[in-house]
Amino acid sequence: TALGVEPSKLEIQHAPQLKPKPDPSELRVFGKIVTDHMLSVPWNVLTGWGTPRIHPFGKVLLDPHASVLNFAQTCFEGFKAYRTPSGKVALFRPDMNMKRMQTSAGRATLPQFDGEAMLELIKQLVRLEKDWVPSKPGYSLYVRPLLIGTEGTLVVNPPSDALLTVICCPVGPYYPEGFKPIALYGTTEFIRAAPGGIGSYKLGANYVTGLVAAKEAAKHGCPQNLWLQGPNHLVTEVGTMNAMAVFKHPDGTIELATAPLDGMILPGVTRNSVLALAREHASGNSRIEGLPDNFVVSEREIPMKEVQEAAKAGALVEFFGTGTAAVISPVNRIRYLDEDVHIPTGPDGMGPVSKSLWQRLVAIQTGAIEHSWSVVV
Ligand code: COI
Repeated sequence: TALGVEPSKLEIQHAPQLKPKPDPSELRVFGKIVTDHMLSVPWNVLTGWGTPRIHPFGKVLLDPHASVLNFAQTCFEGFKAYRTPSGKVALFRPDMNMKRMQTSAGRATLPQFDGEAMLELIKQLVRLEKDWVPSKPGYSLYVRPLLIGTEGTLVVNPPSDALLTVICCPVGPYYPEGFKPIALYGTTEFIRAAPGGIGSYKLGANYVTGLVAAKEAAKHGCPQNLWLQGPNHLVTEVGTMNAMAVFKHPDGTIELATAPLDGMILPGVTRNSVLALAREHASGNSRIEGLPDNFVVSEREIPMKEVQEAAKAGALVEFFGTGTAAVISPVNRIRYLDEDVHIPTGPDGMGPVSKSLWQRLVAIQTGAIEHSWSVVV
């Protein structure tokens, strides 16, 4: 359509000088270093999506009354480009991110776009920046699409103008300590989501609410917080990641459990991928080495009390977070209502269930195992 994003109209302006590529040791802060180029696509309510441009990385000029600055009309995405064993560059499930961005944009009254056309433009950017994709294990090029309302007005309305930008950052492990398990502070004094709210959308506003909880967690000596929702203190998310628990039941069944997508949970791509791999193993379709035979996967409510009691009874096998940035983040302790819940972790920091799933997932992401989730650019 005339209003659509048009990859054929892409204009490319090359940076006059390319920056030196960083040494992996310089990537300790996640998303600090950016590549040479970025993608910008403007939008206007009357003329639709404008000319897409790949141009040298630079600042975005905004009115002080731009709607994004005043009313948080902003949504974003994050996915990674990996270096495959044959030296190609592959994106991990970027179609999922494009779909989620549409949903997020809708919730924030930001414009809709053709996800496939937008992905084509992003692929062009990643192709141009391919030399920035690290090959060191655990490293990748993080792609960050962002969509903001740019209309200068103090009227609280859907914006008449918007801007989509995409930048790329070479990144290493999200936590500088690598797979060192982390302690969580069980947050009961703040909530991140409510029914009908924005918890299931990747909106900037969804992340600012968590910072105060993270600060509170830090006061208790915990690097992250665990969101405990409602009167039953349901386990929902770990900081900015989805949360997963592994229980051992009296009949010997091992259960991988996570909160259901009830409108308050971010539909994580890593969450979805881990569940899919776990279910393939559980069904016998595609077994994963290291996972138990009698294995079940459930999306269900997990009251914190159940986690605490399981830990006391020796029936809590593992607890971890899943997300694009950190992939899998093991947890060894949860501070809950002035008590410590201790969680076992394996000798190298990861328990057997998360480690087996992580190994399979990373093999797919990096192209070591061929899979339709991995999209060569
Ligand atoms: C994640 O990838 O886990 C995220 O939530 C993105 C984060 C960098 C804000």
